Amino acid sequence: MSKSSSSAAERDFKTEFLKIIFFIIFVVLLICFSIFFVNHHENNKFIFETLEHNGSAEKGDALFKMNCVGCHGITARGLVGPDLHSITQRLNDKDIIKQVTGGLTPPMPSFEIDPVNMSNLLKYLHSLE
Ligand code: HEC
Repeated sequence: MSKSSSSAAERDFKTEFLKIIFFIIFVVLLICFSIFFVNHHENNKFIFETLEHNGSAEKGDALFKMNCVGCHGITARGLVGPDLHSITQRLNDKDIIKQVTGGLTPPMPSFEIDPVNMSNLLKYLHSLE
């Protein structure tokens, strides 16, 4: 009698324990999804704002000289990083923005840049045929 009641208590304990574990997993997943969603939203907002501006190729050129020539070469013909001529035919604007701000392909760093300057850079890259 006492044996069966203790195993019932054990079973109860196990179900409670499982419930808690599932609850914790659920909360962790929820947090991950929220972080992903917020990030995604922020990225899209940045891309959208960048594409709203009609950048200046000259300002973009200056930005390129300051930030990118070390790796892509003074005429963007490539050095450590690849030649960027006709890059705009291979990658769409969204992908180029992600490339510059994402830091997804080391050693190329991620750049903190505002939408206006990003659109200037894009305009410059479009001017490279
Ligand atoms: C520290 C070196 C470095 C700097 C600085 C750098 N890049 Fe890069 N970049 C790279 C490398 C290396 C790659 C190739 C990454 C890969 O795909 O493996 C690359 C790739 C790219 C690509 C994609 C090329 C392709 O063929 O897919 C673009 C566009 C680009 N860089 C633009 C820029 C711009 C614009 C800047 C300045 C704001 C910049 N990069 C600064 C090293 C650099």
